[in-house]
Amino acid sequence: MSSPVIRTEKITRIYSMGSTVVTALREANITVHAGDLIALMGASGSGKSTLLNLLGLLDRATSGEYWLEETPVSTLRRDELAELRGRRIGFIFQNFNLLPRLSAWENVALPLAYRRGQYRHQDQLHRAQEALSRVRLDHRMGHQPMELSGGERQRVAIARALITQPAVILADEPTGNLDSNTGVEIMHLLKELNEEGRTIIVVTHDSNVARYANRIYSMRDGILKEGQTDHVAH
Ligand SMILES: Nc1ncnc2c1ncn2[C@@H]1O[C@H](COP(=O)(O)OP(=O)(O)O)[C@@H](O)[C@H]1O
Ligand SMILES: [Mg+2]
Repeated sequence: MSSPVIRTEKITRIYSMGSTVVTALREANITVHAGDLIALMGASGSGKSTLLNLLGLLDRATSGEYWLEETPVSTLRRDELAELRGRRIGFIFQNFNLLPRLSAWENVALPLAYRRGQYRHQDQLHRAQEALSRVRLDHRMGHQPMELSGGERQRVAIARALITQPAVILADEPTGNLDSNTGVEIMHLLKELNEEGRTIIVVTHDSNVARYANRIYSMRDGILKEGQTDHVAH
């Protein structure tokens, strides 16, 4: 089998605020292979976003090691982390995180625009159009986020995550702000992308969402376990 896309060994994240110390993640081990669709479940406050932010290189572990495509992340400088994140990580958030004054295609092209000088305007437009057509939104290229429905906004965010051809797409409760039918549409889209070979981790506390996954991890009080355990209440 090829080497994992993601592997962690006992990663821990401790938040300290004055005299208050929260161990949000305790010695977590997770392995993700190319082509996986993983559901990460657990109650609110159990540490799911903490783990996803570490895997997405938005934050650093307090201890432990994380290998992203065999690179030991703890050895990287801040600018190297940001560069690696931009190339290899696609992020999808609950609140979409689109820039309100940019059109759909400009939002999608942003990860390319951040790579100074590498992509000409025409290239950016062309690739954004391809990514938007993959999420069936090429007819909304010029619309601003305000002019789109919630489900359409999340599809723009998915197109933005796709445009760099990342090693892994990390989605933090991507259906959390959507009605249930629209949420199902978004999960079907993520499942399609997975069937095309994309590696995806989805954070959710919805067991319906978890049905789409080929593997499930569960989190409770900062402790990560593989499998769907009965402590994940609904
Ligand atoms: N930046 C932070 N500073 C301090 N505590 C935090 C921070 N982010 C999260 N926490 C705490 O860590 C725990 C896990 O939070 P989080 O990872 O956001 O959980 P989830 O995504 O599962 O709801 C919670 O107790 C939360 O209050
Ligand atoms: Mg969260």
